[in-house]
Amino acid sequence: MYWQNLEYSKKQINLVKIFSQIKLGDKMAKFKIMSVFGTRPEAIKMAPLVKLLEKDDYFDSKVLVTAQHRQMLDSVLEIFDIHPDFDLDIMKHGQTIGDITTRILNGVLEVIKNDFRPDLILVHGDTSTSFSAALAAFYEKVPVGHVEAGLRTGNIYSPFPEEMNRKLIGTLATYHFSPTTSNYQNLVKENINEKNIVITGNTVIDALHLVVDKNYDFSKKSDFDGIDLSKKILLMTCHRRENWGEPMSQIFRAVNRVADEYDDIQVVYPVHLNPDIVKKANEMLISKNIRLIKPLEYVEFANLIAKSHFVLTDSGGLQEEAPSIGKPVLVLRTETERPEAVEAGTVKVVGVDEQTVYKNIKQLLDDKNTYDSMANAVNPYGDGTASQKIIDFIKKIGK
Ligand code: UD1
Ligand code: UDP
Repeated sequence: MYWQNLEYSKKQINLVKIFSQIKLGDKMAKFKIMSVFGTRPEAIKMAPLVKLLEKDDYFDSKVLVTAQHRQMLDSVLEIFDIHPDFDLDIMKHGQTIGDITTRILNGVLEVIKNDFRPDLILVHGDTSTSFSAALAAFYEKVPVGHVEAGLRTGNIYSPFPEEMNRKLIGTLATYHFSPTTSNYQNLVKENINEKNIVITGNTVIDALHLVVDKNYDFSKKSDFDGIDLSKKILLMTCHRRENWGEPMSQIFRAVNRVADEYDDIQVVYPVHLNPDIVKKANEMLISKNIRLIKPLEYVEFANLIAKSHFVLTDSGGLQEEAPSIGKPVLVLRTETERPEAVEAGTVKVVGVDEQTVYKNIKQLLDDKNTYDSMANAVNPYGDGTASQKIIDFIKKIGK
């Protein structure tokens, strides 16, 4: 009897041991998360989040880059000291949206099937990298968290193909990290479950906080050689697909005309590496007051925003960064999915017609009242803690 009891207690002890090992194992199993990105803006906006994930013991964090952009991506990876676990290296000159989409879809599927099956995949924004990665995740039944969710123009051809990419990601994703209340409302209108949407601010503000320095020394960087920083700097970028062709010609003609008329300004345009854009910019932007330069590294570019008089752009990210530093922005597009700083008066959407672009730039140069009314720091995009809010939410949902 005694022996029987002893056997019984031994069994019990073993069971308790096994049970506690299972529990301990559970506790030790980390939340597997994979951040996927491939272009410059995604890399900049995902970097602060990736850095926090890396440091957090709760997560087993991996990074997959598609390298939809090669050089412009690598420059950001270097600045933020990010070493991807997987690199699809898909970029080709003259790549079409179809090429990008299919190569990334298959590449991400392979990684999930063969190398790393995460509990959650994070994608960002509206690029073809983000859409294709979200689709691959869906095919493999891996939930998707969408960073910078809910921005809409309501026009599926503008920005193209980004508006549709972002909408489709919204449909594929389970969790939605929206920068602003109006982004949140857009998703609610599309019947997304409110419980799965969080307003976080934009991670680009987190990134800006990491790189903008009041005492930044421009003289130390050869990238600025040949630029007269004592003049009023009009910082320009222009690369969007919907502007390719005639709209870009009109914009370039307008900028060239203004530059010819004002000797106290310098238009600085770090030209996107797309060879067609490089060629067109070199052919058309020939005024002596225009400097065409290679893309700047993010630290240099962000500090140049702070140094500039105002910004001319069709970029998405710049519409968020410049207002938060108090720099007026003329948007070289017909509509924007970022209405917040327009409503606040710091950003104006001027379209792509030559005469209208020309007049608006001149007005901002000549009319002090117009300039002063736009040069207000407004920050509808958060306080630089968006990445932490995203992480807090993910921890709350658990596995
Ligand atoms: C992509 C995004 C766009 C985003 C932009 C940011 C899509 C459909 N579009 O457009 O939303 O605003 O990135 O810049 O996802 N190139 C290089 N080196 C680089 C980067 C680009 O040589 O580091 C050249 C290549 O020739 C490439 C071309 O630029 O084929 C176009 O790149 P692609 O990613 O297809 O389009 P973007 O216009 O950059
Ligand atoms: N940017 C940069 N160097 C440059 C031009 C832009 O680092 O020479 C940054 C800019 O600060 C912003 C992002 O790139 O954060 C915007 O990327 P892009 O204009 O390529 O894409 P979009 O925002 O239009 O999607």
